[in-house]
Amino acid sequence: MAEFSKVAVIGGGVIGGGWVARFLLNGLDVTLYDPDDTALSKVNRIIANAERAYDDLLDVDRPKIGVLNLTSDIREAVENSDFIQENVPENFELKKKILAEIDQHAPENTLICSSTSGLLPTELQADLKHPERFLVGHPFNPVYLLPLVEICGGDLTSEDKKNAAADFYRDIGMKPLILKKEIDAFIADRLLEAYWREALWLVKDGIATVEEIDDAIRYGAGLRWAMMGTFQVYRIAGGDAGMRHFLSQFGPSLKWPWTKLMDVPELDDGLIGRITEQSDEQAGDLSIQELEKIRDNGLVRILKSLQRIDWGAGETLSDYEAKLKSNAPKSQLDYSRPLLLHRTKIKSDWIDYNGHMTEHRYLQVFGETTDKLLDIIGMTDSYVKSGFSIYTLETHIRHLQEGKRGEEIYVTTHLLGLDSKRFRVLHVITREQDSSVLATAEQMLMSVNITENKACEFGEVLSENLTEIWDYHQKLPIPDFAGAGIKSLQTS
Ligand SMILES: NC(=O)c1ccc[n+]([C@@H]2O[C@H](COP(=O)([O-])OP(=O)(O)OC[C@H]3O[C@@H](n4cnc5c(N)ncnc54)[C@H](O)[C@@H]3O)[C@@H](O)[C@H]2O)c1
Repeated sequence: MAEFSKVAVIGGGVIGGGWVARFLLNGLDVTLYDPDDTALSKVNRIIANAERAYDDLLDVDRPKIGVLNLTSDIREAVENSDFIQENVPENFELKKKILAEIDQHAPENTLICSSTSGLLPTELQADLKHPERFLVGHPFNPVYLLPLVEICGGDLTSEDKKNAAADFYRDIGMKPLILKKEIDAFIADRLLEAYWREALWLVKDGIATVEEIDDAIRYGAGLRWAMMGTFQVYRIAGGDAGMRHFLSQFGPSLKWPWTKLMDVPELDDGLIGRITEQSDEQAGDLSIQELEKIRDNGLVRILKSLQRIDWGAGETLSDYEAKLKSNAPKSQLDYSRPLLLHRTKIKSDWIDYNGHMTEHRYLQVFGETTDKLLDIIGMTDSYVKSGFSIYTLETHIRHLQEGKRGEEIYVTTHLLGLDSKRFRVLHVITREQDSSVLATAEQMLMSVNITENKACEFGEVLSENLTEIWDYHQKLPIPDFAGAGIKSLQTS
């Protein structure tokens, strides 16, 4: 993990709370400064949402959650920190005042990043004693799930500091986008603002309700946007001739009276009232908390789907998981007992109509455990590329108890048998909380020459590693259910 470990968060509202959650879940200790008495309870709610989302999002172990300290003294928050994220309300004078205080008390080299949605860093840093370590790190809500963070330096920001911030954000699972030039509202908010202005006009002119405008996005272009940005989508829309054809076909419409982009509708009481009423109607009985849950559940599933096709934000998630995996402390396996190979939590989309972990997820957990065993015995990518692998021949699962959402489980593996081409294992899933066994699986696996599609002997390294485990495991008692098939229904 990053060179930064003591993080200060200044302002713990929607965005500050999201940062706190992301930092803590990456194992970093956080000191939060916010003068509002209700800040801590709001932040705790955001942390709970984030923990729930990460349980479902990540397939690797997370670091131990960091410690959160709240302080009413800004000096105490920043004086020992090595990274500061500022998230006070979007008010130029307030930000300048708070940044001056931070600058005065923070160690000289500590990075100061502002979450501002559009204020210019050159103006924000103008009066700082050490302006070179100040930059904008602009996130998106919910900060703990959305990977994008725009990095924008001012005239006095050092390139090194921008790169250090980008590395840090990358380490905590984000996708930093460093702006080439400073500009009001950066990249994303300029685009979103243009869309927002058009949407406000459509409501003001009585063309559509807020719900209809949201539907016009979420049933169409919005689905594409998680996959591809506008340029790539339009490239495809141009057919085989691509972007050039698209521009020649639709370029002229830019001159048609489609857009009111340069004008801003007056946000008078009438328009505010209309938008608020229609927004209440759109939400129906759903509270903000319920909407947050729906949003997070959906975002987790979108991110995991993108991960499956190794694309966009899904690639960022895979890189993050790989980083977490390589940072995890390597525990020494104890060969004198069944190997503790896998730990996970039961995720919400593993639950079926009975409210329990559904059947095929048990196989998934056992399969992931087998993968970890294969990793340990040395079945590397290059082994597979050289034309050899290990296939599963048979699996017998016994379902003994019901697993529920959020329960922590671990899997141990007992090597029950080994010859030159095959091995047999017994995996056991145990519930952490009460040490009760949820399920067991026996598997027979076989070494394969992929090119010839035939059984073959294990490669040298695999054979040596399996033999080392076998030397210990053949002395372990074999459970009496091992080797049993499904009991017959017939009585005779
Ligand atoms: N809400 C968004 O979607 C979003 C997205 C990206 C960036 N931002 C930016 O993040 C920043 C914070 O926005 P938000 O939406 O979290 O606002 P918010 O109103 O939810 O939170 C602001 C927090 O700052 C605290 N605060 C007020 N005065 C303070 C002070 N003097 N010192 C310390 N804390 C103080 C408040 O108590 C509150 O908890 C803004 O700069 C905003 O532009 C917001």
